[in-house]
Amino acid sequence: MDETLFCVPNPNHACRKGEGVYLTASYRPEQVKTTRDPAIGHPEGYRIRIQHGEITVESAAPAGEFYAFQTLRQMMHGARALPELCLCDEPVFPYRGFMIDCARHFFTVDELKKMIDAAALYKLNKFHWHLTDDQGWRIQIDSFPLLTQIGSRRAGSHFNREKNTGEEYGGFYTKDQIREIVDYCTQRFIEVIPEIDIPGHTSAAIAAYPHLSCTQEAIPVRICGGIFRDILCAGRESTYDFVFRVLDEVIELFPSKRIHIGGDEAPKDRWNKCPHCRAAMEREHITDAEGLQGYFMNRVIDYLTAKGVRATVWNDALKSGNLKNGATVQMWMDRGGYSVRRANRGGQVVVSDFSHYYMDYPYGLTPLEKTYNYRPLVPELTFAGEKNILGVEGELWTEHVPDFARLCYQAYPRFAAIAETGWTRAERKNIYNFERRFQKSIPLLEEIGVTPAPLGEWSPRGLAGRLGAARFFLRSINADTVKNQLDIK
Ligand code: ACM
Ligand code: ZN
Repeated sequence: MDETLFCVPNPNHACRKGEGVYLTASYRPEQVKTTRDPAIGHPEGYRIRIQHGEITVESAAPAGEFYAFQTLRQMMHGARALPELCLCDEPVFPYRGFMIDCARHFFTVDELKKMIDAAALYKLNKFHWHLTDDQGWRIQIDSFPLLTQIGSRRAGSHFNREKNTGEEYGGFYTKDQIREIVDYCTQRFIEVIPEIDIPGHTSAAIAAYPHLSCTQEAIPVRICGGIFRDILCAGRESTYDFVFRVLDEVIELFPSKRIHIGGDEAPKDRWNKCPHCRAAMEREHITDAEGLQGYFMNRVIDYLTAKGVRATVWNDALKSGNLKNGATVQMWMDRGGYSVRRANRGGQVVVSDFSHYYMDYPYGLTPLEKTYNYRPLVPELTFAGEKNILGVEGELWTEHVPDFARLCYQAYPRFAAIAETGWTRAERKNIYNFERRFQKSIPLLEEIGVTPAPLGEWSPRGLAGRLGAARFFLRSINADTVKNQLDIK
């Protein structure tokens, strides 16, 4: 079988029926015959037959049909002819995500649509939309207008140590724009999972409403990266009232039955000193501030559960030891192995290991091959635990991604590599073959308006890759490029 005929992700079963060339690439999508076949058994699965001068697509559900067309689109693009074949396909993981951080830098609706089109081409099916952080609040919330009036604007941008732009930077999505993105994704079988990051990474919210923090003191929307000590007060009822009212509006906007509530990088300095937080710990018989975070997250998880919504949290929230079972955990940096233990005990986990799946890192540090070859089913998982790995997600943090061209450069080909891990069985994966298939898809990606990083950047063997690694190493000695647990401000 000539794999170069095929697409990214590599389909799971394909057999060539004969040597004949039956169709030219002038065959148009309208000429494809589509039928439903419940026997296919997977809502995202499909069968393509190219036989007797015809293309037939069979699927059990509309998503499968959509994916069949993505496969055909890639196969036909630039091909002079297609061989007679039968191709049966379905994904290995139900969750194949991409995250874009729109807080550190803001991306327009049109730019996001291009990223969504690109994701759909590679059969990604979850858009994790990081909407709030220390450097900006990006979602309109009617009950708290200052979140966008104050919280969406910062006085400069100082993510690289050398220079602060000194220019006001801002932006947010109106509710109409959010609905537009949600509709756009729905048409492409992509679920949008919004993230409202709490109780840490909330400087922008506190800048707008200082009463939300333990000290209640005014702070700015942050202009640089890092981890900040001012977080939401977990001891005052007014904080929970705020969070619940924000989430009510988020639930109304997003049809997804999943909301990400963060839980990462929340320093406990303020909570340990705050009389309200200490009183809450005493009342709830909680012995330390990590336990208080568990209490905080659990109240929010319960609130969402009562509304039929499942919460996702970053793995940091597991440190409390008392996190409710219903929440899905997103594993990014888990030195304690909490996420694997959670999966082995029945909890859902999404894998986003930072050293492989953080797309903001330079290619010199995280070469394509490293991302591509990462196996989300780590050996410590039991057989039952493996079943609880929902899938994979690539994270595109944007402290160092100031514009759309850079976003595309960091994202591709990496998102496509993660898409293949999420879709294709491990034994059908091969980095060299992937690189060829990805290159074949580049004209389609560029038609969408997404320009990937140039070929020379992907590989640690390439000169650009090696120079990138050296540059990165020198910079990271004294920089916040790598997420650093100790970089607390
Ligand atoms: C994270 O990178 N703080 C989830
Ligand atoms: Zn407090």
